[in-house]
Amino acid sequence: MVSLAELEREASVCTRCPLAAGRTNVVFGVGDANADLMFVGEGPGRDEDLKGEPFVGRSGHLLDRVLREELGVGRDRVYISNTVKCRPPGNRDPHPVEVASCRPYLERQIELVDPRVIVTLGNFATRLLLDSTGGIKQLRGRAYRYKPGPNADGDVMVVPTFHPSYVLRSGGVGEVMAGLRADLVRAKQYLGAPTQ
Ligand code: URA
Repeated sequence: MVSLAELEREASVCTRCPLAAGRTNVVFGVGDANADLMFVGEGPGRDEDLKGEPFVGRSGHLLDRVLREELGVGRDRVYISNTVKCRPPGNRDPHPVEVASCRPYLERQIELVDPRVIVTLGNFATRLLLDSTGGIKQLRGRAYRYKPGPNADGDVMVVPTFHPSYVLRSGGVGEVMAGLRADLVRAKQYLGAPTQ
């Protein structure tokens, strides 16, 4: 099996989908390669494309804040990635062909990091990892087994939550923010006893 660094090198020259043409950087992932907790967002925005790191703009600041406040950790203690690794132009939603092209990278990242819990941020990551067409409002509020099926070991849990940019659009307060916090507390429960 290739290492995460090798997979990142492979992704850095990827031309599997049209997003490759418009990117500044492939935004592969960041954090602890052996983390118990992994976050999967939608796709890089402008700040992320320029820096080559996920969640470094306003959404990222909110994610960093709730990570600190609810779990007491910084981003270096978790692993953060996205559904698509290249910026969709003008921050549009990723197209199905782009999500499908990038899917093997995410699946291999999950295999290599081997987290206990994956928090999916928003509709795209949630639908992909739960193989569902439901919306985040319906799907959040509980945990699911990642890839239930005959070949899965079934010990990775998926905890869906709102995308931080949606939380910001809602004003960063009230029900939506409370939902994000509650989902992180849920993720923490599934992490069990700290191993680090
Ligand atoms: N939104 C995402 O989904 N991912 C990022 O990396 C930044 C913003």
